[in-house]
Formats: sequence, structure tokens, C-alpha cells
Amino acid sequence: MRFEGKCVVVTGASSGMGYRIALDFAKEGAAVIAVARRKERLEQLAKDAEGFAGKILPYAGDISSLEVNEGMIDYAVKECGKLDVLVNNAGIMDEFKPITEVTDEQWKRVMDVNLTGPMYAMRKAVDVMCGQESGGNIVNVASIGGVCGCRAGAAYTASKHALVGLTENTAYMYVSNNIRCNVICPGGVETEVMNSQTDISQKGMGVIMAGLNTAIPQGKPEDISSAVLYVASDDAKFMNGSTIVVDGGVSCN
Ligand SMILES: NC(=O)c1ccc[n+]([C@@H]2O[C@H](COP(=O)([O-])OP(=O)(O)OC[C@H]3O[C@@H](n4cnc5c(N)ncnc54)[C@H](OP(=O)(O)O)[C@@H]3O)[C@@H](O)[C@H]2O)c1
Repeated sequence: MRFEGKCVVVTGASSGMGYRIALDFAKEGAAVIAVARRKERLEQLAKDAEGFAGKILPYAGDISSLEVNEGMIDYAVKECGKLDVLVNNAGIMDEFKPITEVTDEQWKRVMDVNLTGPMYAMRKAVDVMCGQESGGNIVNVASIGGVCGCRAGAAYTASKHALVGLTENTAYMYVSNNIRCNVICPGGVETEVMNSQTDISQKGMGVIMAGLNTAIPQGKPEDISSAVLYVASDDAKFMNGSTIVVDGGVSCN
């Protein structure tokens, strides 16, 4: 077990990749603070992890808020006496809206959830980790939309590119504090991420689909979770500031 006795915070743990990431950390012995708005889902997650070597501790809240981000890190330290791993996974899409279609409101919401929330969490987590001899480990979940401009709308693409930049800067700045910071960039994965996408841009989706190799299958949450756990483990101890694309080859188009 790679995470026995470790304390891990996973955001966006109520569905999709985050649900699986939280479960896999608990299976490998970690105490996992599982964060999302839907409390009942987090309680189900805790039940699903019963009998595992580790455990799930639900923490409900909106990740765009400073209070929730700082609160979840404080909660981890209160419960475990330390923080070993932070996984910033929560995120929302932008209905594939190109720049002429994005509203101020949508831009702000996507930035708040996908970028400002992770920044709040990282700022607090790095502060805690700097005080630990063991340092710590941050894994951000961006997207292939964070490394190219052709897989999402303007707001999502900008938010995920910025998350990649924030990852690289943090990795570089805290090398001497034994803190690693990396970012996973998934391709299409079967989750609930499209459920809230009710007003999809015809132009945005049309241009994207025209350039997409649709023969490449969608991934599953476990395909991303395995990459996250590897990056967070000591097996990846020389990996820092890396952008890891996990997309079944779709960005080779
Ligand atoms: N699926 C894909 O094809 C794909 C591809 C590339 C990257 N990604 C990225 O992968 C990450 C996980 O997405 P997913 O595909 O697993 O989607 P998902 O099934 O929709 O899960 C998203 C998670 O984020 C949480 N979340 C969303 N807004 C939140 C908020 N304001 N506060 C707290 N939690 C919030 C949701 O929980 P609540 O609703 O309960 O709050 C949920 O647990 C995201 O960052 C996404 O951008 C996904």
C-alpha cells in the first residue's frame, strides 16, 4: 500500500474521476478528506470505502469559496495532524463557448471553480507543507484543454492553461521545501461533466468535432485515478512541475 498513514484531500470527490481517486487513495491506506457540494454523495463514498485500509472523511462545500478551501485544509490537519497530498480535481465545463459567446458571468464562474479555488487550496496547503519535514505533494487536474486550444471553449481553455502555469510556478518555487506539484491533463473521460452543459455552442462544438479523431475511445475514471496516484506516490519522486497528458492519444490528432 503506497499511502498507508497518509492524509489526502481530494476535491470534486462526489462523482466521476474524483470519486474514484478518493476511493483508490482510501484503498491504499490514506485518510481522505473528500470535498464537493453534494453531501449525500460524499456520504455514499464513505460507505463505499468501509472495510478499506484507509477511510473517507466527507467535507461539503463550494470550492470557489476561500472559506471552504482553507476549511478543508484545516480539517485535514485537525484530523490527521498533517497534510501529505492535495488533489485539486473539481472543475466545470464552459459549454464550448468561443470568445464571442462567453458571458461575463460564465467566465467568472469557470475561473472561480477551475482556477481561483485551486489557488486558494494550494496557497493554504503549501503553507502547511512548508512546515513539515516530509514536505508534500500537489496534483492538479487540468485537461488536454490546458495544453491546446482546440478541445473546449474560451473560459475553460484559459482556466486550465492557467492551472498548468500555476502548477509549474509552484513546483519551481518550493523545490527546496520538498514539495512536488504536477498536473494531470485528461482527454475525454466518461463522467457527469457534460450533465450541466445545457446550452452548448454550435460554433464551438462544430469546430472542435471537425478536428477530432472520433475513433479514439473515452477513458474511464480509473484511467485517470491510476495516473494521479502514481504521480502522488514516491514512485514519481523525481517528477515535479510535469504536465502529464492521459488521453488515449486524442491529442496526437
Ligand atoms: N470528463 C472529461 O472528459 C474531462 C476531461 C478533461 C478534464 N476533466 C477535468 O476533470 C475534473 C473532474 O471532472 P469529471 O469529468 O470527473 O466531472 P464530474 O463527474 O462532473 O465531477 C466534477 C466534480 O467537481 C465537483 N464540483 C464542481 N463544481 C464544484 C464546486 N463549485 N464546488 C465543489 N465541487 C464542485 C462536483 O461535485 P458537486 O457537484 O457535488 O459539487 C464533482 O464532484 C474536472 O476538473 C474536469 O475539468 C474532465
